[in-house]
Amino acid sequence: MSENEIRLQKAIAQSGVTSRRKAEQLIEQGRVKVNGVTVTELGIKVSKSDKIEVDQIPINKEPVVHYLLYKPRGVISSVSDEKGRKVVTELIPDSEVRIYPVGRLDYDTSGLLLLTNDGELAQLLMHPSHQIPKVYVAKVKGIPSKELINQLKKGVRSKGELLKATKVKLLSVDHAKNTAIIELTLHEGKNRQVRRMLEAINHPVIKLKRERYGFLNLKGLQPGGYRELTAHEVNQLRDEALKSKK
Ligand code: URA
Repeated sequence: MSENEIRLQKAIAQSGVTSRRKAEQLIEQGRVKVNGVTVTELGIKVSKSDKIEVDQIPINKEPVVHYLLYKPRGVISSVSDEKGRKVVTELIPDSEVRIYPVGRLDYDTSGLLLLTNDGELAQLLMHPSHQIPKVYVAKVKGIPSKELINQLKKGVRSKGELLKATKVKLLSVDHAKNTAIIELTLHEGKNRQVRRMLEAINHPVIKLKRERYGFLNLKGLQPGGYRELTAHEVNQLRDEALKSKK
């Protein structure tokens, strides 16, 4: 490979359209053209002078954007839904480029969700070995004992997986309603992790919200509200992910 040539999927990811893995899928789906010719093979090499298009749109025309969304409950963390339910990208109508969520929050979970077209950053943030701390606040049924709270830090088993929180705090209890509010900090991002952990100690979630993602929080936003990240925040996020290497 000459010095100025890189693999097609890498060129697409670097332009910020999507992650490298998704770029491979786009190529295989026949959605990528190089100099006007559809390419479905992985691994061909391209240089700066090649004209690359994804779905007929030249890739290097897209600016890289990063949004922080306060996802409301009742919205899917995806770019489309076969059942026609509302998806998170619809909440950011003024994005002129195709963006996608970094990881996911469940349909019924509210809170902080990042959306971007920055494939490299998204891949870094989602990588299991670079998980930055995420803080969740859960309202649960019943009032968990100290022992159970400690168990969440030691780890609980769910469907053959050991799930752990790095910090757990009991924030408040409502004896009359028999509910409690718990704050959990996770360095992992397994599917439905908080719900499964609290289910495993028999205190199922009533309501769940992600309050923080690394140093980022929801200050100044209402559910459904969003803002762009500053260049400084993007750099800080990248640094934090690189530092939290497991
Ligand atoms: N854990 C969950 O159970 N759900 C989410 O949406 C995020 C973390």
